[in-house]
Amino acid sequence: MSLLSPTWTALLYLIAAICFVLALKGLSSPKSARRGNLIGAAGALVAVVTVFLSMKLDNIPWILAAIAVGSAVAAPIARRVQMTQMPQLVALFNGVGGGAAALVALLELPHTDDPWVRLAIVFTLLVGAVSFAGSLVTFAKLQELMTTRPVVFPGLPIVMSASVLVAVAASVAIIFTGAGWLAVVLLVFGLLTGVLLVLPVGGADVPIVISLLNAFTGLAVAASGFVLGNVLLIIAGTLVGASGTILTRAMASAMGRSVTGILFGAFKGGSTAGSTVASDRPVRSSSAEDVAVLLGYAQKVVIVPGYGLAVAQGQHTVAELQGELESRGIEVVFGIHPVAGRMPGHMNVLLAEANVPYESLKEMGEVNPEFKTADVVLVVGANDVVNPAAKTTPGSPIYGMPILEVDSARQVVFLKRSMRPGFAGIENELLFEPQTTLLFGDAKESLGKVLAAVKAL
Ligand code: TAP
Repeated sequence: MSLLSPTWTALLYLIAAICFVLALKGLSSPKSARRGNLIGAAGALVAVVTVFLSMKLDNIPWILAAIAVGSAVAAPIARRVQMTQMPQLVALFNGVGGGAAALVALLELPHTDDPWVRLAIVFTLLVGAVSFAGSLVTFAKLQELMTTRPVVFPGLPIVMSASVLVAVAASVAIIFTGAGWLAVVLLVFGLLTGVLLVLPVGGADVPIVISLLNAFTGLAVAASGFVLGNVLLIIAGTLVGASGTILTRAMASAMGRSVTGILFGAFKGGSTAGSTVASDRPVRSSSAEDVAVLLGYAQKVVIVPGYGLAVAQGQHTVAELQGELESRGIEVVFGIHPVAGRMPGHMNVLLAEANVPYESLKEMGEVNPEFKTADVVLVVGANDVVNPAAKTTPGSPIYGMPILEVDSARQVVFLKRSMRPGFAGIENELLFEPQTTLLFGDAKESLGKVLAAVKAL
């Protein structure tokens, strides 16, 4: 017997749904993101408890055991993961969500002969399987368990089209016959389609695909809500689907890409990942003391943070350097590129952790006109987001991506460890320009040395 009346169940679902909406609202700004996350988790807890109290469940020990195993695996991974590995983690969790929705649909097929429910089942199966398999491939790419370059082979478009056709044909047949073996065929071809969809995507575009697959999982979950007759799943899935779609579009436009170009560009032979080989062309390099003199006698400094700052965990040191320079009357701002780092908002979160004031963070559109008037631009562990090839070199993997126009500054100092390229694997001509100098070393160590030298001025 269920402990909750339908009215109470509906009310609790409504509360959970409101929590999900508030969670998304909170996640839209770094200031409120932590609170948003907690509200979302509370909503999920309300939802799960409501299911236990409102439904007659047969296999409670098994369900509790599954929850215990899932939590025991996921919680330590989520705790231990580095911020820079977050996109992989999101890919993995997202894939598991899609896979779970597909399994639910598979198990529900024998219990219905309503063609509309079967339609929802085949949709969940197909989209969930695509999301599961695609997410695993994106995980493998980002974790560098496989090449990050686009993987294409002759006949790929034909195999892909055939796989989609079989999946669609199986879906139509399931709606009319409800045959269980066809559902297995659909699952297999859904998985194959997911793998083939992501293999040709190059490293730099993988995060956009994660976001797209996230939207797919949301749609699969929403459809599974129709299958199970559960309103909350429909709401939660729709929210994930919608926010994933918006994020995909936002990231694609920040990188100057079209979503179809990302998914199918490699079919046409375009590559989105280059080499990881270090250049041996000569560059001008400086000591920390030289950089300190440049900074100490400047009036305006723009700091451009990138992925390397996150890797080095140099956010506190860079914040201290900002404080030291400002105490000397020097104006310091941070130029934030929307895709600097490895996930949306990465630099905002990183610098917020070190209590860098929000007013010091300037978005790309706002800071670009300021580079001309800056005396020194300090590029800390960033590369692709300041690479002028995005404007000047058609055919470059980043061509068309809006960049921070650091090349218009009087003096540019790069803090990086070597002459290896950034994520897109392409050389940055700015490193060889006369106004540029390099301070080689780990970003945190270099910043520490520069800070000490500025203090000694
Ligand atoms: P990158 O172009 O990847 O450049 C990072 C630079 O940091 C490299 O030049 C690297 O050079 C240096 N570096 C690495 N570890 C360092 C350390 N410990 N100390 C000092 N320097 C270090 O980064 P970016 O400019 O931030 O651009 C982001 C790239 O990632 C773009 O291509 C973007 O499309 C892509 N991407 C973005 C996202 C989102 S949504 N943010 C997600 C995934 C990918 P060394 O190895 O020589 O030190």
